[in-house]
Amino acid sequence: MLFKQQVWLRQKLLVLGSLAVGSLLYLVARVGSLDRLQPICPIEGRFGGTSNQAEFPLRALQFKRGLLHEFRKGNTSKEQVRLHDLVQQLPKAIIIGVRKGGTRALLEMLNLHPAVVKASQEIHFFDNDENYAKGIEWYRKKMPFSYPQQITIEKSPAYFITEEVPERIYKMNSSIKLLIIVREPTTRAISDYTQVLEGKERKNKTYYKFEKLAIDPNTCEVNTKYKAVRTSIYTKHLERWLKYFPIEQFHIVDGDRLITEPLPELQLVEKFLNLPPRISQYNLYFNATRGFYCLRFNIIFNKCLAGSKGRIHPEVDPSVVTKLRKFFHPFNQKFYQITGRTLNWP
Ligand code: A3P
Repeated sequence: MLFKQQVWLRQKLLVLGSLAVGSLLYLVARVGSLDRLQPICPIEGRFGGTSNQAEFPLRALQFKRGLLHEFRKGNTSKEQVRLHDLVQQLPKAIIIGVRKGGTRALLEMLNLHPAVVKASQEIHFFDNDENYAKGIEWYRKKMPFSYPQQITIEKSPAYFITEEVPERIYKMNSSIKLLIIVREPTTRAISDYTQVLEGKERKNKTYYKFEKLAIDPNTCEVNTKYKAVRTSIYTKHLERWLKYFPIEQFHIVDGDRLITEPLPELQLVEKFLNLPPRISQYNLYFNATRGFYCLRFNIIFNKCLAGSKGRIHPEVDPSVVTKLRKFFHPFNQKFYQITGRTLNWP
């Protein structure tokens, strides 16, 4: 009997102990995250200030990490969302490309900022005729809920290379901010190829080697008909955009630097978007297993990008790499000249 009581008591103590430790850990985590979430500086009135501006970043983060999640799970009614003044806003900035430049990493990293709300999916509104025909309200309804002071950002890398897109975006908002993340063109082309190759392999299909696609076998010159090559001629695409938007409305992100040293690149974007600097080194930590920087929202919540980002590239014949680099060189020079941003490409 006494033994049974002792076992019961021990179990009770164990449960209570676990509860106490759990609560303590939760409190430490909450205090840690709240500390970090306290506004360092208020969000400027640029995005339409309200009376509770100073409170905004903290509330915004609570929304971003909590309420939205609850809403998605169906635990929060639309009425509650309305009570919180949440709205679905058209984007004030768009990451228009470039495919494989690091567009996902850039979007996720910007989303660390309390004033930024990301559209998680690529919406493909402006590049897809069927979607575009559904109208701007359809597009707006695809946007996440946010506070009026926050800015919504979406990314659809196909926008950069699609003929009709600049005019369509211009018609929606002629003063929109446009972000372009680029990588060294040959590396980007190989990354593009790697993604397509993986898709083919998944379907048990064979595919050509990169060398065969990138170099025209008849002329032995670079094959400009190959999409992965064409996409990397950044200046050609940018020139089409410049018929609608002045260069001041674009910001070039160095995708190679975003991999190795993300913070300074993100700080430049914060400046371009007129956001107070709120992303810090705390939010970014290097994960040796992934070989990339990952995101830390607070001491509880952190995440790395999916495995589909950071694929191992196939080995490419060095002579083909050299040929491609030589081919891209004059286009790169022009790109630096137009954008005013010189990158360390060969
Ligand atoms: P690779 O797969 O060639 O390495 P996108 O999101 O536009 O498709 O770009 C994918 C690229 O983002 C990846 O190309 C990867 O190198 C790069 N990238 C940049 N920062 C990253 C990060 N923190 N985690 C994973 N990939 C990142």
